[in-house]
Amino acid sequence: MKYLLGLDIGTSATKTVLFDETMQPVVSASEEYPMYQPQNGWAEQNPEDWYNASLHTIQEVIAKSKINPKDIKGVGLSGQMHGLVMLDKDNKVIRPSIIWCDQRTAKECEEITEKVGAKRLIEITANPALTGFTASKILWVRNNEPENYAKCKHILLPKDYVRFCMTGEYATEVSDASGMQLLDIPKRQWSDEILEKLDIDKSLLAKVYESPEVTGHINDEFAKLSGLSTDTVVVGGAGDNAAAAIGTGIVKDGKAFTTIGTSGVVFAHTDKLSIDPEGRVHTFCCAVPGCWHVMGVTLAAGLSLKWFRDNIADNYKAKAEELGKDPYVLMNEAVEKIPCGSDRLMYLPYLMGERTPHLNPEARGVFFGLSAIHTKENMMRAVMEGVAYSLSDCYDILKGMGVNVSEMMACGGGGKSPVWRQMLADMFNCEVKTLSSEEGPALGVAILAGVGAGIFKDVVSACDEFIKTGTSCGPIKEEHDYYEKGHALYKKLYLQLKDCYSDLAKL
Ligand code: XUL
Repeated sequence: MKYLLGLDIGTSATKTVLFDETMQPVVSASEEYPMYQPQNGWAEQNPEDWYNASLHTIQEVIAKSKINPKDIKGVGLSGQMHGLVMLDKDNKVIRPSIIWCDQRTAKECEEITEKVGAKRLIEITANPALTGFTASKILWVRNNEPENYAKCKHILLPKDYVRFCMTGEYATEVSDASGMQLLDIPKRQWSDEILEKLDIDKSLLAKVYESPEVTGHINDEFAKLSGLSTDTVVVGGAGDNAAAAIGTGIVKDGKAFTTIGTSGVVFAHTDKLSIDPEGRVHTFCCAVPGCWHVMGVTLAAGLSLKWFRDNIADNYKAKAEELGKDPYVLMNEAVEKIPCGSDRLMYLPYLMGERTPHLNPEARGVFFGLSAIHTKENMMRAVMEGVAYSLSDCYDILKGMGVNVSEMMACGGGGKSPVWRQMLADMFNCEVKTLSSEEGPALGVAILAGVGAGIFKDVVSACDEFIKTGTSCGPIKEEHDYYEKGHALYKKLYLQLKDCYSDLAKL
């Protein structure tokens, strides 16, 4: 039997899963690490933590599975996108990584837009300048820590730093590189024009591969430490969302997924390049060679419900502990009893500002329509409906761009909730399905590793063979009709409040 290893180097933890050649998970391990917030709006992590978690979880998986490591034919890496790792001439990490949710670079985004031009920036990188993306982080270090910038000889993304430690290669792949804002998205290579205009030396950047391509082998040092064999190949892998797409079988036109994790993502595959001229959604190269994906990101999806659970519905937490249950299961049961529309209560989920469709760091959360009849449970349902409205905003932009969706998969923690899935089906007016396996990104990159190692012919046929859907729910006509009207009001509320948000920020 041959085996494949998938690593998901996330923001809260690294999860490593060993799959057999039929893509059944054999054993998995995960290790958590902290995120540091030295100032309000800043977010950093230590690349050494990602490396240590990767090493330890690989050691654990090999020990638990008792297989011969020589039978692990390929490793795939996935993980959080956009983070900046800078190495000096001796390959030492220069400073902690500034990661995807860090918001310190508003000034640098203005600098990028000024130097490249707003229209040209979208034409080449398929996005307006974003605080979350890597280019503005590089400029921030240059502007604020010139001594660190002067020492920098290599720039890598989070999973690509771990790859460097495993193989000694400075390599990345198109899906993750798309989130650096330095890649020419149509051409799938570094943009000389952007690099020149921003005065960033191309030699700092890694070599760009397609996601299933082999980027190197496990080197002697990492083989000794981890137990892996030097014969094992490491493929390009993918950024977390592109990897989740492979792991959920979203590899053809018409297929899409919605993730309700901390943030919420609506992601659709496209064989042809499609860029929103207004830059409201991201177009990235996807992990299927020669294809792209379009995705909208709402920043506080699961985060909204978690905030509500921790600050308002804490009695559910206590009750769940008493019963030995998950609080979200109890909350879902309660929400199911509340009618669609939460008795005319609405929620805007902008707790962390917003990316799609309103690029607005000043936007904030709102309950609208509160009346004395409303209970905590009404509010809970309104929170879930508000998140689903925001995901509908993302979905509408994709549809407006001509991206056709015939099959929508639901993923992430929130995707496990039948009531949330029903809301999505009602609002999107399409079938919403679950998957039989929940390994998402780790499964996705293990499939890529199988292609790179020559076990599978290509990504699409491997997904056809191994990704199986679970349950499915369809729209309920009366609820769809209600939500259509509700969505129109939801959109109007943001427009009415837009100026108030800036006033609030200035208070
Ligand atoms: C995508 C994004 C997040 C991160 C962290 O643009 O910012 O999905 O990759 O998971």
